[in-house]
Amino acid sequence: MKQMAVFASGNGSNFQALVDAIKSGSLQTELSLLVCDNKNAFVLERALAENIKVFVFDPKQYETKSSFEKEILRELAIHDIDWIVLAGYMRLIGPTLLSKYSGRIINIHPSLLPSFPGKDAIGQALQAGVGTTGVTVHYVDEGMDTGTVISQREVPILSTDSKDSLQKRIQAVEHELYPAVLAELLRK
Ligand code: GRF
Repeated sequence: MKQMAVFASGNGSNFQALVDAIKSGSLQTELSLLVCDNKNAFVLERALAENIKVFVFDPKQYETKSSFEKEILRELAIHDIDWIVLAGYMRLIGPTLLSKYSGRIINIHPSLLPSFPGKDAIGQALQAGVGTTGVTVHYVDEGMDTGTVISQREVPILSTDSKDSLQKRIQAVEHELYPAVLAELLRK
């Protein structure tokens, strides 16, 4: 079975959605490692509760991105990781990881890319006053949310929406779309 590592920096609701999809049998892969760059992230508690191994690192302890990515690569090798799945990992992937996992790094982003890349995509969409935003699952390249799109789902913006309410609906879509897209990719 293919081995997957999830990279996350925060809450980890998408991490949880993937764990749940694996448990239910709808996603056939093993989530054998969580890579996390924030020792205070709630996703760490989720991993602990699910008995999933964790590699936590502090980027400030390293001189360069390449030096911590080399360490991540070592961890990925130990766990025989085939796929890297980014789920709220708040940093750009560098050439060290990209060259080893080319075409095998996936991300989820809360907008219809190429609209609203980067931070606070939901705030950006509200600010722009568009009627529809959404969710994109895409391959990762060296850019900020610029890789080839795999799948997108629209989410309407309601006139009554606050950032909070819109985020809740977007995340509900993410939690369905991400496991479904990964299941499809793994079938290929
Ligand atoms: C998600 O909205 C995802 O699209 C973005 O970061 C957020 C992570 O949320 N890349 P969570 O940590 O999975 O709850």
